[in-house]
Amino acid sequence: MANVLIGICGGIASYKVCDLIRDLKREGYNVKTILTPFAEKFLSPMTFETLSGNKSYTDKDWPKEPLAHINLARWADAFLIAPTTANTISKIACGIADNLLTTTVLAYGKALIVAPAMNTVMYKAPQVQENLNKLKEIGHIVVEPEFGVLACEEVGEGKLASKERLIDWIYYYLEEKGLKGKKVLITCGATKEYIDPVRFISNESSGEMGFSLAKICRWKGAQVKVIAGFTTAQEPPEIEIKRVKTAEEMRKKVLENFDWSDIVIMNAAVSDFKPVKTESKKIKKKERITLELVKNVDILEELGKIKERKILVGFALESERLIEHAREKLIRKNLDLIVANPAEVMGTKHHKGFLITKEEIKEFSFSSKLESARFIVEYLVGKFLQGGG
Ligand SMILES: Cc1cc2nc3c(=O)[nH]c(=O)nc-3n(C[C@H](O)[C@H](O)[C@H](O)COP(=O)(O)O)c2cc1C
Repeated sequence: MANVLIGICGGIASYKVCDLIRDLKREGYNVKTILTPFAEKFLSPMTFETLSGNKSYTDKDWPKEPLAHINLARWADAFLIAPTTANTISKIACGIADNLLTTTVLAYGKALIVAPAMNTVMYKAPQVQENLNKLKEIGHIVVEPEFGVLACEEVGEGKLASKERLIDWIYYYLEEKGLKGKKVLITCGATKEYIDPVRFISNESSGEMGFSLAKICRWKGAQVKVIAGFTTAQEPPEIEIKRVKTAEEMRKKVLENFDWSDIVIMNAAVSDFKPVKTESKKIKKKERITLELVKNVDILEELGKIKERKILVGFALESERLIEHAREKLIRKNLDLIVANPAEVMGTKHHKGFLITKEEIKEFSFSSKLESARFIVEYLVGKFLQGGG
């Protein structure tokens, strides 16, 4: 697994990095840390050594290991600085190398992931903003701080980005950019078809597959938009998500964004049926009630007719004759690829199925939907964007 170097500056948010290191270790990363002299006043290197299982470097180690800045820079596959103080931001922007951390930054020579955290007034100071812009111009990634209650008890921008966002940026940084310049539209989750204002028909879709696809596409350099129905899975960070309720609303949003997209992945579990009529008032309790359903809009079929050169991917969930039904849907709806899943994968962590194109069928089985999503996206890149078909 990849080596992640974390530079820690003298900011009050430095304690949050302890939790981040634990999570990165759990994800399988090797982690090393460098503390600025001021960071040592907040936390001891021993804390970071215990959590990372590796030496935590300070300026005191430098005379003992004179090439520490070069060795650490060569070791790192990704270099995150969190929290980054106003002081260190400004030093990096000017190329100042007056401690082990800032010297290692220069020796690294590649893009950094910089996560500022400070009081709002400090963050908005024109000098800090100008220096942050300079870092972006150089090509560094600046993970914008969040809005919230700060350590100084003020409310505003300046809170260190959540560990979920920081980890997501590390994944982004390390991924090959096979989808650079591409725009990907993804639908996910379940639609609700209303019987009356409080009752509806829906399904078990969690949205996890669609959110996983969105993460992988973003990490691979695509611009991603998600149109989501109801979901229970955790939302992916840094991705634009538009929410809809019914199939009709989903259709409208998809069509609004269709021209923008190069690739459309229709993963949402859109209700096949909807009530003939939605009552405007809650239906009163009765002994018996008959609900009449009609066929709902078929968004995928509609897109197949207007797709032109776009890559269109559909999903099929079937209880029987999976491959046969999915293949028929691929042809009838003019799709480039269909992901066929047996009905038992809905709502589970484990994921298996088949990738079906006009020419081939590929079976897959993974212990998580994220791994399946990676397999699907890499197949798509290889087959349709790199001429692998
Ligand atoms: C209690 C305390 C909290 C601080 N918190 C922050 C902070 O959150 N962000 C920041 O930019 N500076 C903060 N500072 C100021 C920095 O510690 C100071 O600018 C220092 O020179 C930073 O050094 P470094 O960038 O080498 O770590 C804080 C200082 C103190 C005493």
